[in-house]
Amino acid sequence: MAATARARALADQGRDIISLTLGEPEFPTPPHALEAAHSAALRGDTKYPAVAGTPALKAAICRKFWRDSKLVFAPEQVLVGNGARQIIFDALIATLDEGDEVVVPTPYWNAYPLIARMAGARPIFVDCAESDGFLPHPEAIAQAVSPRTKWLVLNFPNNPTGAVCPARHLQAIADVMRRAPQCWIMSDDMYEHLIHDGTPNVTLAAIAPDLAERVLTISGVSKTYAMTGWRVGFAGGPPGLIQAMAKVQGQSTGGVSPIAQAAALAALDGSQNDVQHMRAAYAARTRLAASLLGQIEGVTCHMPQGAFYIYPGIAGLLGRVSAGGRPLETDQAFSDALLEEAGVALVHGAAFGKSPHVRVSTAASDASIEAACVRIARFCDQLR
Ligand SMILES: Cc1ncc(COP(=O)(O)O)c(C=O)c1O
Repeated sequence: MAATARARALADQGRDIISLTLGEPEFPTPPHALEAAHSAALRGDTKYPAVAGTPALKAAICRKFWRDSKLVFAPEQVLVGNGARQIIFDALIATLDEGDEVVVPTPYWNAYPLIARMAGARPIFVDCAESDGFLPHPEAIAQAVSPRTKWLVLNFPNNPTGAVCPARHLQAIADVMRRAPQCWIMSDDMYEHLIHDGTPNVTLAAIAPDLAERVLTISGVSKTYAMTGWRVGFAGGPPGLIQAMAKVQGQSTGGVSPIAQAAALAALDGSQNDVQHMRAAYAARTRLAASLLGQIEGVTCHMPQGAFYIYPGIAGLLGRVSAGGRPLETDQAFSDALLEEAGVALVHGAAFGKSPHVRVSTAASDASIEAACVRIARFCDQLR
């Protein structure tokens, strides 16, 4: 968000800036979702909603979990929140006590450690090496888990790396979690429909049903349906956990706007053609950008399999000096110099807990991605 704001401020001053910072689809919300919201407003769906979600949307979410993952949830096992971010907040605030631990593979989407800390808990990081395809090693997870561990966080396809976890690898993680009965598992599947080759997502609760009573499976409409501004996320999980999360939500924001919930319902139940079209576009853009960036000397570029991000390594560029005289000692210094001198905004890897990298969002138009890659290549070429 800070990187985006900085890019906008420079653009407002008249600078020619290409921003690849935000994980926000540039596609419009599908028309049938817009129409459903309009009808809901006109028919008077404008009152306080039930905290946990409208019965109609919860039923649609149960259908969605079955359709996509063969997960069976009753409506009381489903919570609708103001975005998946609130679902994560509800879950961590509802369960964590001072001194508890949350195991978070790095790089991570930073809401997990930040919310864990808000709840008084300590994030315990597990490094995911680029050479391992950014997957957490099951043995490393086992070593990070202690009697104080309350949660393991899993996020595939991953933000910021685009890594997708193969079923065999996920099974090995499930084996580790069988030996940690005190621990909940958060499966953040926000990008489940954005796997580049179109293969279905594999999620923990489906492949390890014996663990399902400890798994919270999270998804939402923001990324899949280009509905970031509607603020609808959801989760399926054990009823006791869902009830506790609803209590937190009831005292923080209450339920989600019924108009947004009507739109989300239409997105989940309606034609999925737009999703296919958007997935294909993200896949093509990601491949293009990864191949262009991978050709730059000093840059390593693991090919993502999902989401709309690339997480190039820039170790080979640190220690050098930009054409404008800026020393590049860290990934933050690299991104700052790139923005100032080449007009390209990226997010530095330290924001995701793993340096030296930068995150490139490919949720932007073909033209801006291509132009940005050309500028990045020129910037790197001119380093001293
Ligand atoms: C991995 C991951 N989970 C959850 C979210 C939150 O999504 P939202 O709150 O828009 O539903 C994001 C958004 O960037 C994300 O990247």
